[in-house]
Amino acid sequence: MIDHSTVEKIIDTAEIVDIVQEFVNIKKRGVNYVGLCPFHNEKTPSFTVSTSKGIYKCFGCGKGGNVVNFIMEHEHFSYYEALKYLAKKYNIEIVEKELTAEEIQQKNERESLLIVSGFAQKHFSETLHQHQEGIAIGLSYLHERGFREDIIEKFQMGYCLEKKDGFTQTALKNGYKLDYLLKTGLSIQKENFNFDRFNGRIIFPIHSLSGRVIGFGGRILKSDPRFAKYLNSPESDIYHKSKVLYGLFYAKKSLVQNDKCYLVEGYTDVLSLYQAGIENVVASSGTSLTVEQIRLIKRFTKNITIIYDGDPAGVKASLRGIDLVLEEGLNVKILLLPEGEDPDSFSKKHNSTDLVEYINKNEKDFIAFKTQLLLNEAENDPVKKANLITDIIRSIAVIPESIIRSVFIKECSNIIKVNESVLYSEINKIRRRRAEQKYKKEKGFDEIKDKPASRQQTILVEDVSEAQEREVIRLLLNYGNKDLFKVRNDQNEEEKIVTVAEFAINEIQNDELEFINPVYKQIFEEFQHHLNNRTFLDARYFINHPDEKIRKLAADLISLSYELSKIWKRHDSYIETEEMKLKEIVPETLIAYKNKRIILALGETKELLKKAQEDNKIEEIEELQQKFILLNSLKKELSRDLGERIIL
Ligand code: CTP
Ligand code: MN
Repeated sequence: MIDHSTVEKIIDTAEIVDIVQEFVNIKKRGVNYVGLCPFHNEKTPSFTVSTSKGIYKCFGCGKGGNVVNFIMEHEHFSYYEALKYLAKKYNIEIVEKELTAEEIQQKNERESLLIVSGFAQKHFSETLHQHQEGIAIGLSYLHERGFREDIIEKFQMGYCLEKKDGFTQTALKNGYKLDYLLKTGLSIQKENFNFDRFNGRIIFPIHSLSGRVIGFGGRILKSDPRFAKYLNSPESDIYHKSKVLYGLFYAKKSLVQNDKCYLVEGYTDVLSLYQAGIENVVASSGTSLTVEQIRLIKRFTKNITIIYDGDPAGVKASLRGIDLVLEEGLNVKILLLPEGEDPDSFSKKHNSTDLVEYINKNEKDFIAFKTQLLLNEAENDPVKKANLITDIIRSIAVIPESIIRSVFIKECSNIIKVNESVLYSEINKIRRRRAEQKYKKEKGFDEIKDKPASRQQTILVEDVSEAQEREVIRLLLNYGNKDLFKVRNDQNEEEKIVTVAEFAINEIQNDELEFINPVYKQIFEEFQHHLNNRTFLDARYFINHPDEKIRKLAADLISLSYELSKIWKRHDSYIETEEMKLKEIVPETLIAYKNKRIILALGETKELLKKAQEDNKIEEIEELQQKFILLNSLKKELSRDLGERIIL
């Protein structure tokens, strides 16, 4: 952890224009700089950098943030890595935050697991290359399968001797603790004996994004049905298999360069394609593809081609993968290899040029893939054809981008000869249904399914105050420290200036209102906290907030678009900006927010009242009626307020 003041120093020192200029060609235009966005393809520049605000924003793809976000996004760094990068650049010494005892222990533990894994990798590699058994059995097996020496070295392959506890003993002798050997799964304890997990196996180390060894796959050499062909490291503090892709560390650069990722099934598939010169390849080894893995790929490219075996299991896995990938907004293609082949075997039968040509020629988008798969049987069978159509439509429906959906709808309509409008209406139906399901799930609807409809309705309307909450937060972030009114203290006749933040926070505090959206709520509470302590809080603080959600939101709301679009009226020669109208906008926004909350509360009370009347609960009815009347009068008061305030 880097301590907070160092983080601030880094952010204050790093000049966003300097940093961005290293990667993007930007030119000064007015107060800002503009250029072609590095995060999406565009022909006219919509990528904007503001020196004064210290942020970048692309009006094309919506990406935006501060200098740290830029480095994270552009270089695929973590927050920590990005800070370190900037610190190095500006010669800022990093003072690591003092960790709590618990944090130290946790960090040490992870580090110990990494160290013991690194040791194991080196040991297994040495065994493969230097030990008699390693050479005779392990290395010769890899050579037989056609793996080149440079690939074996690069991927740090190894071999574990066929000796019950050979590795465990060596590790213990070298001072590594048994505890860590067991936690990484390198050793397995059974009846007081510590066995090697991988004994007699070829070792495939699995690397983290930064190239450290976090786990292993071990392949057995003989084919014996009593043993699993592969054994993998168990889950540990450093290895979460659903979040790891085999080969990603080596593929990173090539994924970006080629803007494409080949996704295969196994360790040997990755090695073989890499050896054939296709370096942008990864595998979801040891698990079926997960959403987390797709998101990992998405950090580098939006184009995935799935290359699975041509057998029925491979087809099934491809079909499952398609929807997962589409749902994340990525483009997916599928390449089915001839039956009985996998990327490993297939790539060894063709030279690299033929291989690349074959892939380019035969990869299909998902509609063509599904159609090809099913159309043969479906051709003269209307029921099957209907099923096929439903299946394709379901896949199109998961695509988040409407423009991309419409492209596929067109293609689908051409191939299966069904009118586009029919497809549209079916797809929209599915999307509506899914959105509803998702909404209910998120709101914990399943648990309250048995409650009466009234409760569900209140939950649905609650969400509507989102827009008002957002607007309050937007004003706070953009103008929190700006002066709003002068007020005169009647007792001592002193004049005091009230800022936007003071006014808004007081208004909301007095009514004891709480924000519903958790991110807005946190921002509000931080403002409140600082106001109470009379400390100064500005947009910069939120743009550089340690919580990623807050950073993103702040960058969004402080986006430069308001400077451009919220120019309201042209009075002859001067332009009126939002900032000039704060005296009106701020109170109006607060009233709109309160009004919304009252409307929501009224709706809820009404429903509860109905229910109480049905159940004949007299006391409750009276209570609710009073509440209803109170809320109604509040609402009237507000409307009057609104009328008065406008004059201000
Ligand atoms: N796998 C596994 N456990 C098994 C079998 C397979 O974890 N018992 C995983 C491995 O990550 C493997 C992948 O599934 O790489 C694909 O399996 P398979 O095609 O059987 O293995 P290959 O990688 O093709 O290995 P080889 O070419 O050596 O047969
Ligand atoms: Mn294989």
